Amino acid sequence: MSAPETRPVLEAEGLEVRYGGNLALSVDRLAIAQGELVGVVGANGAGKSTLVNALAGWSRGEPKATGTVRLDGRDISGLRTPERVKAGLLLIPESRLVFATLSVDENLAHAAHPRHAQGRRAYSTDEIFDLFPNLASRRGHLGGQLSGGERQMLGIARALRLAPRALMLDEPSIGLAPRLVSTVLETIRALVDDGLTVLLVEQNVKATIPVVDRLVLLERGRILAQGPTAEMQDDPRIAEAYLGGAA
Ligand SMILES: Nc1ncnc2c1ncn2[C@@H]1O[C@H](COP(=O)(O)OP(=O)(O)OP(=O)(O)O)[C@@H](O)[C@H]1O
Ligand SMILES: [Mg+2]
Repeated sequence: MSAPETRPVLEAEGLEVRYGGNLALSVDRLAIAQGELVGVVGANGAGKSTLVNALAGWSRGEPKATGTVRLDGRDISGLRTPERVKAGLLLIPESRLVFATLSVDENLAHAAHPRHAQGRRAYSTDEIFDLFPNLASRRGHLGGQLSGGERQMLGIARALRLAPRALMLDEPSIGLAPRLVSTVLETIRALVDDGLTVLLVEQNVKATIPVVDRLVLLERGRILAQGPTAEMQDDPRIAEAYLGGAA
């Protein structure tokens, strides 16, 4: 097959991150195709956040990241986070990236449709409020007054305004009521069905399995296993560690 159809939207090769002398991440290759929803799962400290942060060119500390990150085949490894955002690679970290002292409307206005985003879709405010009716009724509320679920939705809404080529989410379900967990994950699934490409980090494996196309299991910074969800959910390493099921 010719390259354009098969070229991944987001691709990492030989990606390594060290904190001090400690190797926190070592990924030979990870590729996400157009319109795919890939779930990254693993225990606390497995390197999930380190992975998405390295892809986004961002870090809490002072890590040393090496390797190649490509977006639509373009090597973006040398770009800083704001340039990667402009290129269409967006990360919603655990903190959600919502301005607490701005209203919902102001938060959305801050995330304006980028000028140079050919071929990328920026959701309009109307589309966003259709997608998140809860936000529509809270347009004048401040970010800081929103519930955890509403903040997560506002974080996603802001990202959609920025016309993401690929969207990464770090544990969007954390701190949410069980009912909201499935709402948020199903919304992400609907966006992917609409053409978005998503890398989803989750510790809630049970809630993740029904929505993702593929699962990547990280352990001590390495990909221990990956494959289509239908195969991976029966993998004993997933079943034993996260689902409490017999292998
Ligand atoms: N800023 C930092 N400085 C030093 N070590 C770090 C830093 N951030 C992460 N680490 C280490 O890197 C490893 C991977 O951490 P990471 O936060 O990526 O894990 P995680 O899978 O996201 O875990 P969690 O499920 O708790 O969010 C851990 O051993 C962690 O202690
Ligand atoms: Mg993490």
